[in-house]
Amino acid sequence: MAIYTEKVMEHIASPRNVGVLEDADGVGTVGNPVCGDMMKIYIKVNGDRIDDIRFQTFGCGAAIATSSILTELAKGKSLDEAMAITRDTVARELGGLPAQKMHCSNLAADGLHEAIRDYQARREGQE
Ligand code: FES
Repeated sequence: MAIYTEKVMEHIASPRNVGVLEDADGVGTVGNPVCGDMMKIYIKVNGDRIDDIRFQTFGCGAAIATSSILTELAKGKSLDEAMAITRDTVARELGGLPAQKMHCSNLAADGLHEAIRDYQARREGQE
């Protein structure tokens, strides 16, 4: 049985920025090969900054908490700063995750990076 920090429990109980951005500039969809869970991250970009962000996850409590904190970390950041967010950043912000749940934090960071790459690919397609 995984033991979660209070901060993790709080994000599971009240996740931030859940949902879909209909007019997203970039969408990242990732799957976790370990458990088969899925995650979607939507971003709205203004200039070089992440103006808005939402997530949908079809995963466990740790996946919900890591995505929730990820959206708080990424909002307002430049794309380069957001690219530098790793699963360790996410886990640290939550006060740590049980070792057997660290793989869950991959989804959040990978989903964000995918969304940024999607945004960049769309922009290149317009040039
Ligand atoms: Fe699948 Fe956590 S068990 S994301």
